[in-house]
Amino acid sequence: MITTAQPSMRPYGRQVLLCNHGDCVDPAVAEGLQRRLMELCRAYGLTKLQNPHRIKCTLADCLGVCQKGPILAVYPDGIWYHSVTEAVLEQIFQRHFLQGQPLESHIFHRLYPAGSEPVYPPTVRHDPARVLPDSINIASAVVPEEVIPDSDVQTADAIRAAVRRAKKKKGLIIVNTGEGKGKTTAALGVMTRAWGRKMRIGVLQFLKNEHARFGEIKAAARMGDIDWISTGDGWTWTSDNLDETVAKARHAWSIAQERIVHGGYDLLLLDEFTYPLHYGWLDINEVLAWLEANKPPMLHLIITGRYAPQNLIDFADLVTEMRAIKHPFAEQGIRAQAGIEY
Ligand code: FES
Repeated sequence: MITTAQPSMRPYGRQVLLCNHGDCVDPAVAEGLQRRLMELCRAYGLTKLQNPHRIKCTLADCLGVCQKGPILAVYPDGIWYHSVTEAVLEQIFQRHFLQGQPLESHIFHRLYPAGSEPVYPPTVRHDPARVLPDSINIASAVVPEEVIPDSDVQTADAIRAAVRRAKKKKGLIIVNTGEGKGKTTAALGVMTRAWGRKMRIGVLQFLKNEHARFGEIKAAARMGDIDWISTGDGWTWTSDNLDETVAKARHAWSIAQERIVHGGYDLLLLDEFTYPLHYGWLDINEVLAWLEANKPPMLHLIITGRYAPQNLIDFADLVTEMRAIKHPFAEQGIRAQAGIEY
């Protein structure tokens, strides 16, 4: 008789299902939530295969709700959450997964009566006692630079150590402004660096001609995996129809808003975006309030252009002013050259 060895199972504590079918929410949003949950789990050692408290997070086809998404289901608890924004997800992680107290405000379905949920699997399996910190500041639970050693993922000390080791990260607002050249060029340098790191990149040009084929656009096309969107009608001082320019700038901002929320980017360059703000085509306070409320926390946003409004400078994390010291055209009458200036 031939016998076959049974497969052995990697134990885990909970399984999380996130619907990304597309009717209850944009699949990109569900994917962003999955990434954030995995970041949090990694910060706490909860993705390690050897950790009996491991959390599995899976994107799932339609869960049969199709409204009020994102929908997130937690098993074995049999608890279903609706309208799971990133902030709600962090509360679910903190309260439900770390402290064992489901987040009542977003539960819409329970497979079992409250308090009668199946016993937590590591308890059933008699895995080492579940020791998790009483209360941890989720804001500090960003991806740790170091990997938690396999041997000590099961202890609260190891979890706390992982959190201590976690270096704070955030998606930066970067502004390149000033009269000198190099604002967009410097942004493109960051873009190249991000591309080298396999980050997802978008570039949205507010005022450059949508039919232009500058060297950087050709380069991005050759590099691949960079979304390049041109929406302007040329420079303000060469435009024949200012109303149309204004309308296009506003239209470009609506595209930018959509890309910021749903683009799934790690880095988005808003090239020449200071001009619609400076000229008042867009209300700076409304723009900043919108960014404050909607920019994904880990999205890096680079804004270029002269005349950056003070509000934007105050709002940004990194601001650089380009200052002209010498220019080949001013001193020698040498015009812009392909491959160097465009
Ligand atoms: S599409 Fe998400 S639950 Fe049906």
